[in-house]
Amino acid sequence: MFSLRSVTGRLATVAVRQPAIRTVAPAARAFSVTFKRMQEEVHEKGIPVHSYTDKESSAPEEKVLPVGATSEVVGGGQGDVKIIAQALDKSIAEKLSPTLSKFTLVGKVAAITGGGRGLGYNMAQALSEVGVKAIAILDIQQEVGDAAAAELHEHTGVPVRFYKVDVRDGPAIAEVFSDVVDSFGSIDVVINAAGIADSNIKAEDYDHVMFRRLIDINVTGSFLVAQAAGRAMIKAGTGGSIVNIASMSGSVVNYPQEQCCYNASKAAVIQLTKSLAAEWAQHKIRVNSISPGYMDTALNRVPALDAQKKIWKSLTPQRRLGNVDELNNLAVFLASDASTFMTGSNCIIDGGYSVL
Ligand SMILES: NC(=O)c1ccc[n+]([C@@H]2O[C@H](COP(=O)([O-])OP(=O)(O)OC[C@H]3O[C@@H](n4cnc5c(N)ncnc54)[C@H](O)[C@@H]3O)[C@@H](O)[C@H]2O)c1
Repeated sequence: MFSLRSVTGRLATVAVRQPAIRTVAPAARAFSVTFKRMQEEVHEKGIPVHSYTDKESSAPEEKVLPVGATSEVVGGGQGDVKIIAQALDKSIAEKLSPTLSKFTLVGKVAAITGGGRGLGYNMAQALSEVGVKAIAILDIQQEVGDAAAAELHEHTGVPVRFYKVDVRDGPAIAEVFSDVVDSFGSIDVVINAAGIADSNIKAEDYDHVMFRRLIDINVTGSFLVAQAAGRAMIKAGTGGSIVNIASMSGSVVNYPQEQCCYNASKAAVIQLTKSLAAEWAQHKIRVNSISPGYMDTALNRVPALDAQKKIWKSLTPQRRLGNVDELNNLAVFLASDASTFMTGSNCIIDGGYSVL
């Protein structure tokens, strides 16, 4: 749900309650530039991988994973909060009560898509605080992903690998998960946070190619990542936990911005979650989704959105947007053994927006 980002991450002009001047022009212009690319299948020829594993060394170990090429930068800007993550002290982990110890991920390997910034990066920090053995960050933005991986490793000491990859590229995603297992020994937890939003575009004006592109990133991308991870988990026979980041927009229709495609994509992510949960329970793979309401991410913190944000807050019982770290504990709960009997659930976390 949420920001007025166009397909390239630019902000569409906001004109709350003034349909005549609400505009889709910036999105449409950006769209025409990338029209040809958007029609192509996404296939990388090589996936740059940067490993941050040695605290003493400032330079990452670099390699390129060969695969059978597009790289559109989605959005811009770096993370929205200063990192405060710190690793879990092993001696403390050993002394935790049985209930608290179930909230840890000691020895587990996690992958987070869209982990270069925003909610994904925040959840990556949370996982690094509960004992993960290693983290893989997958993101389409090279600089953003590199900065996040380096910072996370520097603060926590947890080995982090950054893969610059598009979640729409099935063969590349398969290569990434194969490399994660080869490098770190397993894949146990996946958080599917990569996603885009188009807002303030009326259904009657929505270009079908844009529509397909959003569905491809938000739905097909989530599926391809879950499939690659699921295959590895099934092969290993050790189970795992997959957490898809949907949105309250998968259950409610936002107001006042028109965003039919985004809403439909997130409803699909919720139903994909339930379907995979039913199919993979036999393999001890749990699949759940988190559906955030309006979150106070960097992209929502722009003057152009002030008018709409007032409306969003007025429709939220808590009268505020969520902080970027307010999904973290739910993500840890769903990823860990604290939620072993939970699968196929969609957890709405929205300050009460959807109860009204
Ligand atoms: N911010 C909100 O208010 C909000 C509310 C509900 C749901 N969500 C969902 O949460 C998730 C994260 O949102 P955010 O606000 O942190 O967004 P964000 O734009 O800050 O982060 C998304 C990340 O995904 C990456 N990405 C985009 N397309 C990609 C692709 N094709 N392949 C690989 N990486 C790609 C981007 O580079 C970016 O780093 C999204 O799925 C979004 O729909 C956000």
